[in-house]
Formats: sequence, structure tokens, C-alpha cells
Amino acid sequence: MKINKKIKVVEKSFKISPVSAKKLIKSFHSDMKNGLCGKKSSLKMLPTYAKRPTGREKGDFLALDLGGTNFRIFKLKLQGKRRISDILSESFVLKKEHIANTEKELFGFIADCIKKFMERQKFSKNKQHKIGFTFSFPIKQTAIAKGVLLGWTKGFNAKGAEGKDIVWLLNKALLGVGLSNTKIRALANDTVSTLAAKSYEDEKCDMGVILGTGTNACYVEKKKNEMIVNIEWGNFNKLKLTRYDKELDENSINPGKQVLEKMVSGMYLGDIVRIVAKDLAAKGIFDVYGYKKVFDKNGVLESKHVSTVESDSSKKLTKVKNVLSMLGIKRSTYSDRSILKEICRIVSLRASRLAAILMAAVVTRMDPGLKRKHTIAIDGSVYEKHPGFSKHIRSTLGDIFGRKAKNIVLSLTKDASGKGAAILAARQK
Ligand code: GLC
Repeated sequence: MKINKKIKVVEKSFKISPVSAKKLIKSFHSDMKNGLCGKKSSLKMLPTYAKRPTGREKGDFLALDLGGTNFRIFKLKLQGKRRISDILSESFVLKKEHIANTEKELFGFIADCIKKFMERQKFSKNKQHKIGFTFSFPIKQTAIAKGVLLGWTKGFNAKGAEGKDIVWLLNKALLGVGLSNTKIRALANDTVSTLAAKSYEDEKCDMGVILGTGTNACYVEKKKNEMIVNIEWGNFNKLKLTRYDKELDENSINPGKQVLEKMVSGMYLGDIVRIVAKDLAAKGIFDVYGYKKVFDKNGVLESKHVSTVESDSSKKLTKVKNVLSMLGIKRSTYSDRSILKEICRIVSLRASRLAAILMAAVVTRMDPGLKRKHTIAIDGSVYEKHPGFSKHIRSTLGDIFGRKAKNIVLSLTKDASGKGAAILAARQK
């Protein structure tokens, strides 16, 4: 298929050359360094008070996972020999009223879910149950089970939580529903739980990455004593933005913030595609039979649609046709469908490349010559489900490191929020 020249212009604006990749790595290193010593930086570089597990951690745990589309509760057993068993979990849908009103509503809802789960799973009322809590937002920790929320991201906006200790808020809510036999032993960012979960079984794991609704990473910093540092890379801002990124940012609830996250993560991929489609429709390149207005509306395209479009290899692009039809565009030509597919490819390819470049930056902070093996634990819907995403990360790492790229192992680590939080809780007395 011959792609319209105008699409080439869009493609060019989303390209990252090898020279810009190198520059990005350099400026990421300098932001990491500045963040670590409290100087001005777009990276928070938060100490987590968490260390890598030994693999010998043992016991029965409850683990909580808050920060994506669902609130999840896990019950599991750490066997103490790098093995986890008896994993059981339940998901609870988070509605707008839970995440965007007040802290009382959010934590009250969570406490209710925990109570129901414990009743259904017949937890003893006479025993104290240990909890590990994965809380996927930036927190300033002063101990493993103490952390103040620095600010919400990813559309969460429950008032009254910022500046407060999350463990205290949850404990208060648990007492509110009559649960006094629980003890929150660890509070961790999802990247940290992911790292912990993988390194429980693989001691070469020294980095955790989330590529889901949001994006972020943590790694093992050895400058003074070994400690896992939560980078909060979603806020990295030394990036070249396209006009489409700028439009997305201006219309977001947090303009100027989470700049990298808005280019990479699932919460935003659909919207970048929508904004490009809107522009091409206005220029008459993307025709869609006078249904242009469909693309004016923020949020109509989600990242799962972008995945569906890209996975369509049928002759007539039937899946793309269905996505367009779901948007209200009941008639579409083959050319329209292939243009939409091309936009999705361009947008998600940049996302995977950016993710790979930042992974390269973090690994070379730990090991400048890439002399050792590093396992990167990765969790999140975009990495797991988006067609070609992991393949493109691999190939970009290959472009950057050549043969040495084989020293980096990417490992999809599912249910990491649950497992990792339990492991971290087991480390505490
Ligand atoms: C957002 C949060 C960060 C989290 C990431 C992935 O970037 O600020 O703490 O790790 O999403 O869930």
C-alpha cells in the first residue's frame, strides 16, 4: 500500500534517531543523578526502604494492589525456597466516584472490599493477618511501611490524601469497617513489587518496569547502601514533543506533568492516535465519510482499540472496520482503515522505543559497560498485550547495545503487585 505523503510527515515527527536516543540517555542519567542528590530534576528518585529479597521469605499473606483500573486483593503463601503457592485473587472495579471524590470514599471502598474478601476466604478472626500494599503512585517513604502521597497521577484525584501517610489512611479505613486484626507490613510502588517478585526467583533481577495504565521503573542503587529507588520516570521531560503530544498535554488534568507517561502508557496511547486522526481528517487525508467530529471527543479511543487495530492482518481490515464502527463511523474505505492502522503503528512504535531507551539508561547507570547480566521484570497491559511491543523494545536495545544487548533479559512478571508486596511484607518483623 502506498501511504499518503502526509502520513510520512506524521511518521517523521514521531521518529527517534540514534543520535537523539543517545542524547536522551545522557539527559536521563543527569536527571537521575540530580534527583538522587535532591537537585532540580524531572525524576523524583524516591528511596523505597526496600531491599532485594533473598528467596527465603516465608509465610501466608494478604496483598493489595491499588493504582490501575481495578483494585486487586491476593491471598498467597511464600514457601521460602523461591517458590510461591496457593495464589488466589479477586478484582474489584474502581468507579469514578471511588477515585475522584475524597480519600474517605476511596479508602472506605477498599476497606469494604478487603472485609468481603476476608469473609469469603474465611480468614480467622482470632489471628493477625499480614498485609503487603502495592500503591502505584509517588510516595515519599521514611520507612518500609510509611509513605506520604506526593501527588496523584493517572486520573486519580481523591481529595484529602495528598501529603498524608497512606498506611495511616488505610488503617483508619480498616478500623472503620471493624477490621482490627490486620497489620500493614509493607507499602511499595508497583515497580518495586515487580522487582521484588521477580528477584525472589531470579537473583539477576535488578530492575522493575511497569508498562500499563501508567509507566515507571525502579532499580537497585548501590551508591551508599543497596536500596531500591523508585525513579518515577513517567515525569521525565527532556523530550521532543510533537504538536499532538502538546495538544494532549494541554487538555489533560495535569498539564506539564508526566510528560513521558503521556507518550508511552496505556492511559494515553488511544488519545494520541485520536488527535493525529483528527488532524488528518481535518486535512482531508483521513476521509471517514464526514464523520470527522467523532475524533473531537477526548477519550473515545482507548489503548485496547489501538491493540485491536494493530493486530488486524485480515485482507479487508475487518477488525479496524469494527473499531471505526464502534466509534460511530459505520462506513469506511480500505484506505481509511489502513491509515488508522498506520497511525496506531507510528504511535505505539515510538512508545516502545522510548521505553527501551529509558531501560538502557537505567541499566547503564548500574553497569556502564553492560558487563553483567540484568533481568528486567516487566508487568502491565501494554507490554503484555500490545502486539509487537516487547519485540520492538528488544530490537531497540539491540540498536543501542549491539551484541551486548543479550546481557539484558526482559521478563514478563505477572501478578507481580501481589507477589512482590507479600515478599516485601515478609522481610519485616
Ligand atoms: C504512575 C505513577 C507511578 C506508577 C506508574 C505505573 O506513573 O506515578 O508511581 O509506578 O504510574 O503504575
